[in-house]
Amino acid sequence: MKTTGKLYGRLAWAFPIITPLRHYKKETEQAFRLMQKAARIPVRTLLHLGCGGGHNDHFFRRHARVTGVDLSPAMLRLARRLNPDVAYLAGDMRKVRLGRTYDAVAAWDSVNHMTGPADLAKVFDSAYRHLEKGGVFFFLLDTDRAQFRQGSVDGYVNRGKGVKIAFIENLYDPDPRDTHYETRFVFLIRRKSGLKVETDRFRCGLFSAGEVLSLLRKRGFRARFLRYRPGAEAMEGCASGRAYYPAFIAVK
Ligand SMILES: C[S@@+](CC[C@H](N)C(=O)[O-])C[C@H]1O[C@@H](n2cnc3c(N)ncnc32)[C@H](O)[C@@H]1O
Repeated sequence: MKTTGKLYGRLAWAFPIITPLRHYKKETEQAFRLMQKAARIPVRTLLHLGCGGGHNDHFFRRHARVTGVDLSPAMLRLARRLNPDVAYLAGDMRKVRLGRTYDAVAAWDSVNHMTGPADLAKVFDSAYRHLEKGGVFFFLLDTDRAQFRQGSVDGYVNRGKGVKIAFIENLYDPDPRDTHYETRFVFLIRRKSGLKVETDRFRCGLFSAGEVLSLLRKRGFRARFLRYRPGAEAMEGCASGRAYYPAFIAVK
């Protein structure tokens, strides 16, 4: 399956509409508290790998000096507009080397783009190299083997200025023996002028919590898994709801 990634390119303008900033407030604050609690040092600087539109950063920056890294120029443009005080850099989270360390590294809905253990290990290596001793790495995956449901469909409806977007997501795993599945998106974009239908597709990684923990520990982290439960506002407009996001806290 070919990934098109329109959501992070030509359709990036829709990102703040389908996942509004207000959805991130409580869950980002909650994550920051978790990071602070787990870290052996005060969290004053934070590196966000796969920072996307900068929605988490908008809340992280209240507590720490933030640096964001992302592959997509269109997403970085959104992030810079939202958080002019954050340092945003183009880079691949598997290979980025900034030549400095941070008290915390976060990755939120971006590590799921790693489709195999080799790529996952590279991200963990980047996180490790950018952390101070005693610093904390926190990341969420979109789903894991325990939660994955073949063919599941989720839907959200949200409004922007003069536009209403119904966003439908369908997960499908053609081969349960490998470490990835397909995500298909349909966007119903309704304006006064009419309806436009767009589609997108990604290949995302599918791992068990145990597989992820073992890679983290292999890299030298002390790591644990938690079922991260988003607040009600994060689920606003969502058809099915979900019980949790698989999350990992790892300390260097
Ligand atoms: C869902 S968005 C993250 C949204 C983000 N949590 C926020 O607060 O706005 C996922 C991001 O991961 C980025 N991404 C995917 N693979 C990447 C890689 N190898 N290196 C850096 N960024 C990557 C995409 O470009 C996209 O912007």
